[in-house]
Amino acid sequence: MTNKFLPVLLSFVLVLGCREDQPDNPLVDIPYQPTPANLEIPDGFPRMSIPADNPLTVEGLDLGRRLFFDPIISADYSMSCASCHLPEGSFTDNFAVSKGIDGIEGRRSAMSLLNIGFADQGLFWDGRSPTLEDQALLPVEDSIELHNTWTEVVDRLQADALYPELFRKAFGIERKEQITKELAAKAMAQFERSLISSGNSRYDRYTRGEIDFTDEELLGYELFFDFNTDITDAQCGHCHNAPLFTTNQYLNNGIESVSSIQDFPDKGRGEVSADPFDNGRFRVPTLRNIEFSAPYMHDGRFQTLEEVVDHYNSGGHFQENKDPLIQPLHLLDYEKEALLAFIRTLSDTTFIQNPSFQDPFK
Ligand code: HEC
Ligand code: HEC
Repeated sequence: MTNKFLPVLLSFVLVLGCREDQPDNPLVDIPYQPTPANLEIPDGFPRMSIPADNPLTVEGLDLGRRLFFDPIISADYSMSCASCHLPEGSFTDNFAVSKGIDGIEGRRSAMSLLNIGFADQGLFWDGRSPTLEDQALLPVEDSIELHNTWTEVVDRLQADALYPELFRKAFGIERKEQITKELAAKAMAQFERSLISSGNSRYDRYTRGEIDFTDEELLGYELFFDFNTDITDAQCGHCHNAPLFTTNQYLNNGIESVSSIQDFPDKGRGEVSADPFDNGRFRVPTLRNIEFSAPYMHDGRFQTLEEVVDHYNSGGHFQENKDPLIQPLHLLDYEKEALLAFIRTLSDTTFIQNPSFQDPFK
């Protein structure tokens, strides 16, 4: 064979080779070069533990955000995760309890997803889900939420004009049939881990020495954390501890008037642990951005922060497992106002308006 035929022969072999390995498959031509994403975590925050098999990448975040906002995941294409977790509500929906696609109300209030990547003691009000990857699988098939099946969602994603390419870029799949619910959940979990405080709240700037508090905010700060032994301890900081403003513990803050621990209308943590002493215990929620996520508590019973402070000031309802820190506080009106002024310093509008957290379909 002379040299002039060699290139022809080689290209023939190459074409054949490709045809054999990937029949009609344009996906492999799309480069798989995931770019590691850096999380900006404010000073003083804990380390976020990220599963080794789901590192954050720019491409994964992009896919995760799209899936989070895409109604393609609900049976009738009417709702997405973001229907109940809206950026402007600090990723809650501002309803006492959430409604799913059939208009049926669930029994609990949607939770804020701010700093959710730091929640390492279980997810949901009762802690029944261990990880964000596990949790993200649940709403799709929940009959009072998105009321769909993952088989259907995966079919839709595989048939979509754009998703196969996004899954390729994020996870290196070679065929669209390799799109799975687990990969979709991984991408959504990545997006959720990126929902971190901006560090721009008045509270954060005060603690970094960049601004002063007003006298009222300062009094509220001291009441909240018991920093000044001369004034009342409002006890809040023991459970809503800095910097996350939650300890992620499961506690009973005395909101329910029941005659025994068997009688809680929602047993909360007790449903998961089967320990009656856990009945009526719920995970302590963050107070960051609490101004934007009314109404309050697991069932949305309080409309305003004023009502919440009045509850704590009263000492709540007695049950055997009510936390000993929940006692009548005897706060005076100006002290209640000061506490509220301090709580509002936890508002972080930079977070809510972050362009990376908004609906990519708008
Ligand atoms: C119909 C409204 C609704 C939809 C849709 C919905 N959620 Fe939720 N979400 C809730 C409610 C209500 C809770 C609290 C439920 C509980 O504790 O039992 C919650 C809790 C969560 C939590 C736990 C937060 C924490 O602090 O522990 C995460 C994470 C979450 N949702 C993510 C998602 C994702 C991801 C999707 C989409 C796949 C989604 N949600 C869809 C209403 C909704
Ligand atoms: C013993 C621990 C504890 C103490 C002390 C405490 N809380 Fe709470 N807080 C909780 C728990 C637990 C919940 C959730 C209860 C539920 O939903 O059933 C909660 C819920 C809240 C909520 C509603 C959050 C939401 O997302 O709906 C606010 C607001 C709040 N607390 C503010 C305060 C303030 C202000 C103080 C001090 C006056 C305080 N807490 C003291 C444990 C505590």
